[in-house]
Amino acid sequence: MKKKVIVTGGTGYIGSHTAVELISAGYEVILIDNLSNSEASIADRIGEITGITPILEVFDLCDAERLESFLRKNSDIEAIVHFAAFKAVSESVSKPLKYYRNNLLSLMNLLEAMTVHNIPSLVFSSSCTVYGQPGILPVTEETPVQPALSPYGNTKQIGEEIIRDTVTANNRLKAVSLRYFNPIGAHPSSRIGELPRGVPENLVPFITQTAIGLRETLLVYGNDYNTPDGSCIRDYLHVVDLAKAHVEAVNRLASGKNKTNYEIFNLGTGNGTSVLEAIESFERISGKKLNYKIAGRRPGDIEKIWADPSLANQELGWKTVSSLDEAMRSAWKWEINIRTKTD
Ligand code: UD1
Repeated sequence: MKKKVIVTGGTGYIGSHTAVELISAGYEVILIDNLSNSEASIADRIGEITGITPILEVFDLCDAERLESFLRKNSDIEAIVHFAAFKAVSESVSKPLKYYRNNLLSLMNLLEAMTVHNIPSLVFSSSCTVYGQPGILPVTEETPVQPALSPYGNTKQIGEEIIRDTVTANNRLKAVSLRYFNPIGAHPSSRIGELPRGVPENLVPFITQTAIGLRETLLVYGNDYNTPDGSCIRDYLHVVDLAKAHVEAVNRLASGKNKTNYEIFNLGTGNGTSVLEAIESFERISGKKLNYKIAGRRPGDIEKIWADPSLANQELGWKTVSSLDEAMRSAWKWEINIRTKTD
């Protein structure tokens, strides 16, 4: 019998790619999503890619009673991979309580339900934002966590602490937090990808939307940073690579290979790329000149960060395989696909 894995936020960007990889690895996947930032049709698209359309349960994890009734009907769950959360940094600054309530209440409801229903394993979607601006690069998991720069970032930090304390109190529960660097790109089939609503905040969707004519000009937020070309540096990784790390984390917990009941892994390529280098990559793979101009710094941006992914390489047996250009090419193909097809 296939092992059952719940993917919360399963119709979202990273959730949908992870569902594809879990199904391909032989897991039975059930998606939970409140569709606040995604579409139900994503479940069908996952089915087009894998040949198996996962069940989608539409509800909000802040509704503890609804979660309880779902779990009463679904026993023998091996693991929960928890993506469901709000993620817009700037919105979190103007609406902090919306972020704290949603991101933390849903996590607490989930942990409580896991305890009651004896669901042994949780994989949590965390972020490199917990490191703030690190003094030493690249960052390892030992790099100190710094005060969060936004309520969004704080929900990831507090989320990790809630998990650690819950796992410490309940030795039947084990968890892995995955600290993502900057996921970009789309599935090679172009059936799923990033679908930002409104004006994108993130760099790569803004690049592709500018190139396709939806946005006039990309603003490069600052060229006076202490970096070789003056623009900020990040560690961009292909979302399919990132998705595969979740399969390894679930495998590790399911087979009891975890070394402690709460583990943390950085997920990145290990390479830093500046905003201007990302633009060059896009121009190289698309053959298009991007309309961009240098603007002032974006408040709250950190100057430079990239991962030391050695621990994930060793312990999860995972590493990124796609180059920046490959990831960028998939993002561009996806953008063209969603703007030229109506299905
Ligand atoms: C941040 C967080 C990340 C979080 C994500 C959610 C850090 C290090 N990362 O990503 O954890 O999950 O927000 O949205 O805190 N840029 C431009 N012009 C644009 C857009 C972006 O120049 O129009 C630049 C930014 O200044 C930054 C880089 O591109 O240097 C990447 O920005 P973005 O894609 O928004 O990601 P982060 O801010 O790194």
